[in-house]
Amino acid sequence: MEITTAKYLISNIDVKACPKPDKPEYAFIGRSNVGKSSLINMLTRNAKLAKTSGSPGKTQLINHFLINNAFYIVDLPGYGFAKRSKVQREEWEKMIDAYLKERTNLVTVFVLVDSRHSPQNLDLAFLRKLGEWGVPFNIAFTKADKITQREAAKNKSLFVNAMKKEWEYIPRTFMTSAEKFHGRNDMLGYIGELNEE
Ligand code: GTP
Ligand code: MG
Repeated sequence: MEITTAKYLISNIDVKACPKPDKPEYAFIGRSNVGKSSLINMLTRNAKLAKTSGSPGKTQLINHFLINNAFYIVDLPGYGFAKRSKVQREEWEKMIDAYLKERTNLVTVFVLVDSRHSPQNLDLAFLRKLGEWGVPFNIAFTKADKITQREAAKNKSLFVNAMKKEWEYIPRTFMTSAEKFHGRNDMLGYIGELNEE
């Protein structure tokens, strides 16, 4: 699969205002600053499509992008951003939870996990929530260019092992670098496969 056109459509605070769920949809989520927006820009080869930032908390809304006039990619705000007030964090969580539970055309969620870290409870807890709600997901490890391949592979297997303690099924995983365009073919191939189903 190749991306030929990528167009920003709309940003919403409320899932009910999102585009009609008439096309398959792929959402990107993970901790603040993990690299969601950068990964979307890497996949679409458009550095300006999704807004990125060195400081966490950049993406604050549900952002829809139309790809190849055929499917949607969605950039979501990150979870676990400590520098927000409790009230704001709860608002974001409510918005994201409603999106995940109510978006009927959601094919799968790419959960982004920083490849530089050992398994974090916050990420594992988020996966648990997706499991409870029956939301299909896979995992993209990010920023692999910032460490050695060996370290990235080690953190990935630690994460998978942590998952095995509570999951019978381990989903697809991707090792990525938005900086170096690593993992692009794998991820697009996967989206292509799912689009055909
Ligand atoms: P929020 O919207 O705030 O939740 O963040 P986000 O998950 O969308 O992260 P974003 O894409 O804005 O990237 C955060 C920072 O990490 C930026 O400074 C990016 O340049 C950097 N970054 C993202 N991906 C990579 C990567 O693969 N390699 C390197 N070296 N830096 C990356
Ligand atoms: Mg973002």
